[in-house]
Amino acid sequence: MGQSKSIFDREQKHRLDGKLVAITGASDGIGLSTAIMCAQRGASLLLLCRNIEKMSSAASKILESTPDARILQIRVDLADVRTVSNAVKEIKEKQLMIDVLVLNAGLAYFAPTENLYNINSIQVVNHYSHFFLLNELLSNLKGSEEDPARVIALASDAHNGATGDGRFWKTYSSSQEMASVLGTGIKKIGINAYCESKLANILHMREMATRYPEIKFMSVHPGVVNTNFFSFKKGDDFKGTFLGWFINTWFIRSFLSKIAKSSDQDFKQAE
Ligand SMILES: NC(=O)c1ccc[n+]([C@@H]2O[C@H](COP(=O)([O-])OP(=O)(O)OC[C@H]3O[C@@H](n4cnc5c(N)ncnc54)[C@H](OP(=O)(O)O)[C@@H]3O)[C@@H](O)[C@H]2O)c1
Repeated sequence: MGQSKSIFDREQKHRLDGKLVAITGASDGIGLSTAIMCAQRGASLLLLCRNIEKMSSAASKILESTPDARILQIRVDLADVRTVSNAVKEIKEKQLMIDVLVLNAGLAYFAPTENLYNINSIQVVNHYSHFFLLNELLSNLKGSEEDPARVIALASDAHNGATGDGRFWKTYSSSQEMASVLGTGIKKIGINAYCESKLANILHMREMATRYPEIKFMSVHPGVVNTNFFSFKKGDDFKGTFLGWFINTWFIRSFLSKIAKSSDQDFKQAE
């Protein structure tokens, strides 16, 4: 795809000097590109990533483009609520005040047999852990009437595929009960779970905007972006399913790479 004209004037108009931007899943894809662009606009960054090595390599990439960027790194694995609690504790101990919180991390599949806390795994990672993180950090959001704090959740057009009937949202009494309701294999981990999690992201932001009008809450569909999101390399179990096979076929992968935007098209323009 051709590069679109950047809408940001990083040098003069759209500066973020003095602001702290916190981003979940800043180790790759859209999250990393967002971090690079915010650093170019003068923001300090708080990276919240699950993989410490990838987080530190992301920090190096940000510094390549903005050598004087200030970057903090705290480990958060949204599949493990204890790491979210620990991160919140560290943020509070360091008395960090966040101007922009980007709830970006997300995934579209999970190993077929896995669930977390007897809840559908994708819903936990994409929505519930972000819900918890935001709830705990509300008092760490910094804003004023003229310049409110912002919270941006990465949603998706895929939310249109959700029914919102609650099956993917609730806690089951056991993993067996969950499997019997949600199905197993492709039925459980297929796109339905993802659609439901993205609907949850949107409804969450909408409700928060009603409850806390002094903060700006937004959910965004980024378009179809050619990131690791479509690679499905991480879920070996997923590869054994029809959906995994289908998405990894040459035809679908070349189709996706033709229609998808590059996540770095905007920050590359600034270099
Ligand atoms: N790409 C698209 O076309 C598209 C379209 C609509 C919406 N979105 C949304 O955009 C967001 C970013 O997606 P992307 O395309 O940038 O995907 P990506 O390249 O796969 O990046 C996903 C990021 O989320 C992180 N992540 C995954 N599971 C995590 C966990 N348990 N705890 C903490 N971090 C975790 C990944 O960490 P690792 O680096 O450790 O894997 C990575 O940094 C997602 O919410 C997705 O739903 C994407």
